[in-house]
Amino acid sequence: MSQDNTGLKDKVAIITGASSGIGEAIARELSAAGARLVVTARRADRLTALCASLPRPAVALAADITAPETAQALLDLARATYGRADILINNAGMLISGSLDTINLDAVALMTRTNYDAVVRSSYVFARAFKHQASGAIINISSVGAYLSHSSMGVYTGLKQALEVFTTALRVELRGTGVRVGSMAPGTTETEIFDGLRAAGQPVRADQTAPLKPADVASAVRYMLEQPQHANIARMLLVSAAESA
Ligand SMILES: NC(=O)c1ccc[n+]([C@@H]2O[C@H](COP(=O)([O-])OP(=O)(O)OC[C@H]3O[C@@H](n4cnc5c(N)ncnc54)[C@H](OP(=O)(O)O)[C@@H]3O)[C@@H](O)[C@H]2O)c1
Repeated sequence: MSQDNTGLKDKVAIITGASSGIGEAIARELSAAGARLVVTARRADRLTALCASLPRPAVALAADITAPETAQALLDLARATYGRADILINNAGMLISGSLDTINLDAVALMTRTNYDAVVRSSYVFARAFKHQASGAIINISSVGAYLSHSSMGVYTGLKQALEVFTTALRVELRGTGVRVGSMAPGTTETEIFDGLRAAGQPVRADQTAPLKPADVASAVRYMLEQPQHANIARMLLVSAAESA
């Protein structure tokens, strides 16, 4: 049976990378809109504090999103806790940059597993479940970087471009099934993702322009999810008014 996706009250949303930044803000926004949540990241203390502060039911799974079993564990937890799953937000991610002669290739491989491989796995696990129930929504958090290529950011931006292409393919594959798929590409947003660059003394875009706040991105994600069932915002690019790109 197809569900009306308009309105988030009592919908069950799974949010990856919810221990900080954009993911935490999406958790707060969707909870305020009435959704029940499963939140995940590696930092259990952050997730516990988040769940305790939300107005609606929320449970946490402290897990590494690159572990092959995590996606199914998230679906299982949603079903065991709430009896269903309705929304997947693939948000967990990391940022490694560096020029050809300095970049750490092991760290790049971890970024590939986190920012792309894990999204593909989670998308397929949840898409299968959503297709079976003929309803559901998947939003992949991409980046303005998908449309740009900064020197030293070739791998990060390349992965986000790949994520955009994958998301489009999955959306088309699932057309007519009741499952909506879309991508949100935020511009520079002030979060902890830049902490590593700052610690290494590398330039940080968020320091050069007035960045978005995580709550700005969360509000736009909510807007995407609140469209009527027949309408799918397939791709959204949200940048700060001061963004240079
Ligand atoms: N900030 C920006 O300017 C910007 C712009 C465009 C797109 N984005 C994208 O937005 C998403 C969220 O980033 P953010 O800016 O909010 O950064 P953030 O504050 O650093 O958040 C990243 C989240 O991902 C989680 N995470 C990272 N690696 C993980 C792993 N292996 N397993 C499980 N969870 C993992 C982190 O949790 P734990 O460390 O607790 O595991 C954290 O909750 C990313 O996909 C990023 O590429 C950010």
